[in-house]
Amino acid sequence: MNYNKKSIEDIEVAGKRVLCRCDFNVPTKDGKITSDKRIVAAMPTIEYLVNKGAKVILCSHMGKPKGEWKPELSLKVVAERISQLLGKEVIMASDVAGEDSKAKAAALQNGDVMLLENTRYIKGETKNDPELSKALADLADIFVNDAFGTAHRAHSSTAGVADYLPAVSGYLVQKEVSIMGKALANPERPFVAILGGAKVSDKLNVINNLLEKVDTLIIGGGMAYTFLAAQGYTVGKSLVDEEKLDYCKEMMAKAEAKGVKLLLPVDTAVSPAFPSPIDAEIPVDYVDCTAIPADKMGLDIGPKACAEFAAAAKAAKTVVWNGPMGVFENPTLAKGTIAVAQALADSDAVTIVGGGDSAAACEQLGFASQITHISTGGGASLEFLEGLELPGIACLQDK
Ligand code: 3PG
Repeated sequence: MNYNKKSIEDIEVAGKRVLCRCDFNVPTKDGKITSDKRIVAAMPTIEYLVNKGAKVILCSHMGKPKGEWKPELSLKVVAERISQLLGKEVIMASDVAGEDSKAKAAALQNGDVMLLENTRYIKGETKNDPELSKALADLADIFVNDAFGTAHRAHSSTAGVADYLPAVSGYLVQKEVSIMGKALANPERPFVAILGGAKVSDKLNVINNLLEKVDTLIIGGGMAYTFLAAQGYTVGKSLVDEEKLDYCKEMMAKAEAKGVKLLLPVDTAVSPAFPSPIDAEIPVDYVDCTAIPADKMGLDIGPKACAEFAAAAKAAKTVVWNGPMGVFENPTLAKGTIAVAQALADSDAVTIVGGGDSAAACEQLGFASQITHISTGGGASLEFLEGLELPGIACLQDK
């Protein structure tokens, strides 16, 4: 995939109506935003457009309303937050590309900012309906995609609209693509990838693609037990993806053939059952992965694995991490994830954390400022690591 895309700096935006797709899919509780990270990440692009005198028309989805006008998924709360960060009014449209949006877009002055309602209030959005794409395009002269978190979706507001307007990237998309693109295409070595998360099946293509690129692949989290089972160990009641045992064997053979070091945890935290509720106090023993008792399940990596994984991360020049090492929502079972986050924070390498749970872990644990790049994309960063073409980026003009 070609990552060398035109950006907002490569096109004249002054006085132009610019439709800027952001990923404002932020978590909320009782009508309040609980993390504004994605809004803050979009601000450099919004500020640039405002300062250049563009007429800025922002749009995004929130949640999955599936064509229904669910008031709890309105972007009004996002408009308020942008307005606070920007220090100026953000005009809120009451529809997506309907009469109100058209009237408000037509009345914009240079430097004004408006926000459309949740694009997924319209059924056609997730179907990449050309009618909606055209209606969105009719509001503007230029399309800017700054929604990295949604770049893996071929929807009307992320890709379809680019059929009708000159389309360029915003700063966030540019930054995500250049840092992760360089790591994958031309990494400083040793290049170490650390993968975690519950299921092997969620990361099949990521493992396969990374084995083409890395010097060391570390596998922790729930999916490590399927790899251990594939090596012939008994893993007690640990989560095992039976259907993926052959796949794991194939990947281990591939690693060997390519000379990639594949590291699995040598020890693990075990307990009789999964904690319920997830953060409940839980009795834990640490055992070697060759000796997991039949009546226990592995729920985190153990201290020897923490030390080994941390040493590999510290010795690396590039580290990519995606997925927690254990049930990190539980303080007793968060130790492996904390150790990896700490190792990345301490490492002099270029450190990249794919979004989702591992990004949340770095932020909650206070390591975020010591990581080179924490992606704002969950699914998007995974698909990027899989080497897939992201429709929201592919649709932008090449440099
Ligand atoms: C995300 O939160 O990963 C993005 O906003 C994409 O959301 P989606 O998975 O609902 O398409």
